[in-house]
Amino acid sequence: MGKRHIRIAELLNEAPGQSVVAKGWVRTKRGNKNIAFIALNDGSTINNIQVVCEVANFPEELMKSITTGACLAVTGDLVESMGSGQKVEIQAKEIVVYGTADTETYPLQKKGHSMEFLREIGHLRPRTNTFGAVLRIRHAMAYAIHKFFNDKGFVYLHTPLITASDAEGAGAMFQVTTMDLENLPRTEEGKIDYKEDFFGKRTSLTVSGQLEGELGAMALGNIYTFGPTFRAENSNTPRHLAEFWMVEPEMAFYEIEDNMDLAEEFIKYLVQYALDNCMDDLTFLNNMIDKELISRLQSVVGTEFVRLTYTEGVKILEASGEKFDYPVAWGIDLQSEHERYLVEKHFGKPVILTDYPKDIKAFYMKQNEDGKTVRAMDVLFPKIGEIIGGSQREESYEKLTGRIKELNMDDTNLWWYVDTRRFGTAPHSGFGLGFERLLLFVTGMSNIRDVIPFPRTPKTAEF
Ligand code: 4AD
Ligand code: MG
Repeated sequence: MGKRHIRIAELLNEAPGQSVVAKGWVRTKRGNKNIAFIALNDGSTINNIQVVCEVANFPEELMKSITTGACLAVTGDLVESMGSGQKVEIQAKEIVVYGTADTETYPLQKKGHSMEFLREIGHLRPRTNTFGAVLRIRHAMAYAIHKFFNDKGFVYLHTPLITASDAEGAGAMFQVTTMDLENLPRTEEGKIDYKEDFFGKRTSLTVSGQLEGELGAMALGNIYTFGPTFRAENSNTPRHLAEFWMVEPEMAFYEIEDNMDLAEEFIKYLVQYALDNCMDDLTFLNNMIDKELISRLQSVVGTEFVRLTYTEGVKILEASGEKFDYPVAWGIDLQSEHERYLVEKHFGKPVILTDYPKDIKAFYMKQNEDGKTVRAMDVLFPKIGEIIGGSQREESYEKLTGRIKELNMDDTNLWWYVDTRRFGTAPHSGFGLGFERLLLFVTGMSNIRDVIPFPRTPKTAEF
């Protein structure tokens, strides 16, 4: 029989009676002076393969060096397991220790570390069951996003990360420069001379790929962009990151209703994909993190989202008698406590709120006849609040440029954007799904720092 290195995910489904090689990291070792049981994990699945060693067959030094965290290659026979919990195990014949992990200093000794502690060891936390599960689900969701749009004929458009325009007009941008900050070039008037900078103008990391996405939609019909976005807002909350990933589809000839239909179909597809393909990891998270996770996921795919206007939503909140930290009145930007009241207490299901006051939304949204509201739509989710933000876009050149003027925006870097309204403008719509917000929902994790491998938040950029 030849030796085959097989990933543990597949190995656990292989037939007993063959010689195999497994490679991975030791999760635990237990046993007595005669026999040792090693739980080996290689990240391909939440499940470990059990390696059984007759201690007498191996040098004492080697057995000693097999501790939690060590990396091994094990050759042996795959046999039916007598123990419960697994169908097969490896009867070890030969063990190579690739790397030891000192018991005194390896931080992942015992189980049950706090999420805060694990954030401090971001370089090692993928080796825990929880982060292994989260990262595999994260991968599955990224794949499902591409599959969903590809199957619908959308074109994946790569929008730039470095930009000279502020898509959301929120001013929360990270500047990009190669200038020497200790010795800045100045103009005659003493201002910083951005002509001397790398791009010859002031540039930043993008907050959204939407504006360039619209250019794509006005040529290719339906596009999506999916990449990192950056926001320098100083929000230290469990739902905000300074660097997060966003999925932004943009569709020519879609009105707001079509946009809502797509958003609802999209999220349900992703949740169903997780239920169909990530059950081992979801079951683990359901047991360890959030007992209602799987039932919440199932309920979302089976329910029709509520659709109502911002104005109706505010009326419900005002009539609720609830004491909010932040008082409700027409015109305010809804806080997550308000969003969650509507979703969790009032309706008990996801809500799509539309037609927000224009003053709390971005310049590009289609203006309604009432002169007060715009064709915005936010999708609000249980536990999360806003998971998607989108709108129908203003397609009228006059109205769009009028709004840019009204807001006193610097339009020097938007000439190309308004050009689409001069040349063959069309009704169109789009939205942005916060990828980590989706992952909060799908994994049941409660802090956004724990659904991205290496979180960036105010005052933290480790790893
Ligand atoms: O609502 P936002 O700001 O909308 C846009 O950026 C539009 N340009 C999208 C579009 O229409 N193409 O952001 C969209 C989503 C939010 O609903 C939220 O899920 C997520 O992005 N998001 C964040 N996620 C993590 N950390 C942050 N700081 C986030 N800010 C927004
Ligand atoms: Mg928003």
